[in-house]
Amino acid sequence: MSGAVTVIGSMNQDVVCEVARLPGPGETVLAVGSRTNPGGKGANQAVAAAKAGGSVEFVGRVGGDSVASALRDSMASAGVKTTGLQEVPGVRTGRAYVTVAAGENQIVVDPGANSAWESDAELAVMVEAELVASADVVVAQLEIPLAVVVWAAGSARRVVLNAAPAAELDDELLCRCDPLVVNEYELATVSGAPTRTREEAGRAARSLCLRGAPSVVVTLGAAGSMLARRTAEGVEVTYQAAPQVDSVDSTGAGDAYVGALCAALADGADLIDAVAFATAAASLSVQSPGTQTSYPTREQVRAALAAMPTAHRLEY
Ligand code: RIB
Repeated sequence: MSGAVTVIGSMNQDVVCEVARLPGPGETVLAVGSRTNPGGKGANQAVAAAKAGGSVEFVGRVGGDSVASALRDSMASAGVKTTGLQEVPGVRTGRAYVTVAAGENQIVVDPGANSAWESDAELAVMVEAELVASADVVVAQLEIPLAVVVWAAGSARRVVLNAAPAAELDDELLCRCDPLVVNEYELATVSGAPTRTREEAGRAARSLCLRGAPSVVVTLGAAGSMLARRTAEGVEVTYQAAPQVDSVDSTGAGDAYVGALCAALADGADLIDAVAFATAAASLSVQSPGTQTSYPTREQVRAALAAMPTAHRLEY
């Protein structure tokens, strides 16, 4: 693959604690291990897309601290170009506090420089404008200001929006998302509909297509993912099961999915084939600890595709 992907989003230093079980409200637990590693949904997706074969530019903001140069180096070693990664003096690089237990995680993000962006008018004459306009696929998440996401969506040829963390979206932005990528919780927030079962999630995704989204992908964790897309006849909903694997760390699996999806789309894949490719990538990523280091190469994803269950249509 060699399609051009521009990722506009967050870059964090992740402070990760491994615990036997996640703490409840008001509870203190002791970690069995801890580490720091590069993270941020934007940076993770950029690395995942590059490993999956995309030609990737990352547009983001870091602070003027020592963490920033280490994070920039980690992007370079993964093959991600950082022409649009700017340092904001006097601000701290974003940090995420990640707690991992038995394949599950909880994350709190301190955005720092991820919130420190220029205005639309300033961005329009910066290198960021060219990086967004020239890409085959632009992907954004919601760990940066919504105004920046809206600005990028306005000049991109194709926008993939991963609405994480969850937020309500107006119809104008929704109409630009091809696809919108959400998990069940994010889908409930964006659609305002229940998403507790696969049936409900399919209906909620379909409702977003009827509101104007060209396509919606719902990630379902170990259960795989679902694609709703508008066609000449209405809205078609397809379910892609995931291969059964032992999950050791699901942190950043959604980012592995989105990055691989974008690499496939930028290379000209049809959305349903890109969904299968992304499902395989995410199922590989959960089988080893960490985020960016757990992401598979294009060759590994292609090999895993051989064991992928066949996607099938759902009727609503
Ligand atoms: O999706 C996982 C990411 O979310 C972590 O790397 C953390 O930085 C947060 O942004």
